[in-house]
Amino acid sequence: MSKTFYIETFGCQMNAHDSEKVIGTLEHEGYARVQDEADAGLILYNTCSIRDKAEQKVFHRLNEYKKMKGEGKKFAVIGCVAQQEGEKIFERAPYVSIVSGSASYRNLPQMLARLERGEERITGLDDRQTDETFETEFVARTNPHRGYITIIEGCDKFCAYCVVPYTRGKERSRAAASVLEEARRIADQGFTEIQLLGQNVNSYLDPSGKMSFAELLAAVGSIPGIRRVRFTTSHPRDFTKDIVDAIDAVPTLCDHVHLPVQSGSTAVLKAMNREYTRDWYLERIAWIKAARRNISITSDIIVGFPGETDQDLEDTATLLEAVGYDAIFAFKYSPRPNTPAVAMADSISDDIKSARLQILLDRQREIQRVNYNRHLDEIMELMVESHNKSRNQVVGRSSQNKTVNFTTNQLILPALGSYQQVRITQTFPNSLLGAAVEVN
Ligand code: SAH
Ligand code: SF4
Ligand code: F3S
Repeated sequence: MSKTFYIETFGCQMNAHDSEKVIGTLEHEGYARVQDEADAGLILYNTCSIRDKAEQKVFHRLNEYKKMKGEGKKFAVIGCVAQQEGEKIFERAPYVSIVSGSASYRNLPQMLARLERGEERITGLDDRQTDETFETEFVARTNPHRGYITIIEGCDKFCAYCVVPYTRGKERSRAAASVLEEARRIADQGFTEIQLLGQNVNSYLDPSGKMSFAELLAAVGSIPGIRRVRFTTSHPRDFTKDIVDAIDAVPTLCDHVHLPVQSGSTAVLKAMNREYTRDWYLERIAWIKAARRNISITSDIIVGFPGETDQDLEDTATLLEAVGYDAIFAFKYSPRPNTPAVAMADSISDDIKSARLQILLDRQREIQRVNYNRHLDEIMELMVESHNKSRNQVVGRSSQNKTVNFTTNQLILPALGSYQQVRITQTFPNSLLGAAVEVN
């Protein structure tokens, strides 16, 4: 087998960052990354299983392998589908050699050594109860300005619909000192933005007992060179007021909280096992709104959970309006293997789910039209993310995580990763338009 690899990543930000660590580890083991499957000796798929569609993508890809036949390539299926389906993957796709969940990536070097010895059917599936997090010094960061750091892995919440507690194992946090050391190291390398990651990032419990999540946020935000700190995803159950206080106190903490509610109906929340009510959630929102800074709030929503009525949906719609979210990610409920909800009848037809989703998206669009319009004439600082050459625009991101397209009359466009003051000249429900505030 040639020591070259190709990797494709599906799923959430944690998977994307896991891939950065997997790439770093493979490179450290002497493998070279290639950008084309055809050139690779080893092909890895880092998979997602959150909804059925995501899972099906993996099996489509595996079928494509079959067409490539022979060619002496080796295949590894890693991530959430790997953990969920385990050795069944070898039955469906006998040409796969490695099946590993994220809790086992620490053992990748050993798995690779076994692969090189010609072993087949190598698994990393038994580490979901581990207390260890996957810490590696070999991280191939893809974005040179924004560095991701996983501070807590796994999930112990067991929402009725969700695979994550089964695919990523139990909740385990990384020691605050180790997080801060990595944050300082990447700040020294020139990263100006740090994004702290966890399925429930604010459920963070420092194993050394030294710092609360809010204290860790403040500490990361105080590292010299760091201009922006983001954190995702926050769970309402563990959302404490000191997080809002930290955002108020430390200007580098971005004024954005992603706090998924899933439903605005207390009855549905109970069936989902979210363990909070609509009112309890709205109380956390009231803390965020009471902040001195204008903190943007975003959410995830599931429509069509078993038993959801039209009134429940209306409760979700009125909650969207009560909160005034700046963005939502809304999904149709998808029954998932091994979860408690799969035993409940999937009582709502796909057509009704689609119709309900559309109702929410239409209501949300109106909310965003109003919210985004409030930024007209505002001057905001953006981090430059890309250049849109065809439109002669620069694409930047605000502290609130909003996308702003802007023009500049400088001949040389501002560099990627640089910060630019921009005045907002026009607003849309999903983005803003502006012009650079030119300094002479
Ligand atoms: N830990 C985070 C969410 C992580 S999963 C939290 O609890 O908020 C990301 C999103 O996927 C969830 O917020 C949920 O909206 C969606 N999701 C999870 N399971 C799903 C399912 N079975 N069907 C549809 N959407 C789902
Ligand atoms: Fe899934 Fe619930 Fe855990 Fe979020 S908190 S990852 S939705 S089980
Ligand atoms: Fe998907 Fe696993 Fe993330 S199921 S959303 S890749 S935790």
